[in-house]
Amino acid sequence: MISKKLETAFNKQINEETFSAYLYLSMAAYFHSLSLDGFAAWMKMQAQEEMSHAMKLFNFLDELGGRISLLTVKEPEKNWKSPLAAFTAVSRHEQYITGCIDGLYQLAGSEKCNPAQIMLQWFIKEQVEEESTAAKIVLRLNQIKDNANGLWMLDRELGARQHKT
Ligand SMILES: [Fe+2]
Ligand SMILES: [Fe+2]
Repeated sequence: MISKKLETAFNKQINEETFSAYLYLSMAAYFHSLSLDGFAAWMKMQAQEEMSHAMKLFNFLDELGGRISLLTVKEPEKNWKSPLAAFTAVSRHEQYITGCIDGLYQLAGSEKCNPAQIMLQWFIKEQVEEESTAAKIVLRLNQIKDNANGLWMLDRELGARQHKT
């Protein structure tokens, strides 16, 4: 059984992960508008990954006997100044999500919910990966600056991303 406090926090995190999917899908639309279809493909895959995070929390909350409650998903931004600005936003967003997961993990501890703590360790590791991936792409985009060839090369590289959950 899960405490009401932890149940509420899990529901909030389901919403955060769903919003992440929505945000990255909006970025995919932005990249399509620039004909950067490789960047767009990467974002669409990332959106799917975020939905799989939401579902992991959804299924776990159900298993723990909690009541799932879906909240309003806010409208994401639609435009960014540049690919660099978009990936800088990804990087900042993932840092924010890391903070949410850390808070949830600490709450699971203070609510003495061991299964939730164990499950959330997966998310803690996943956030290390998410932050590192975003930071590396921001670094590449900073090196590329306004070099069109560099941007096309990165577009091809990101478009080759393999699906992972
Ligand atoms: Fe996520
Ligand atoms: Fe990931």
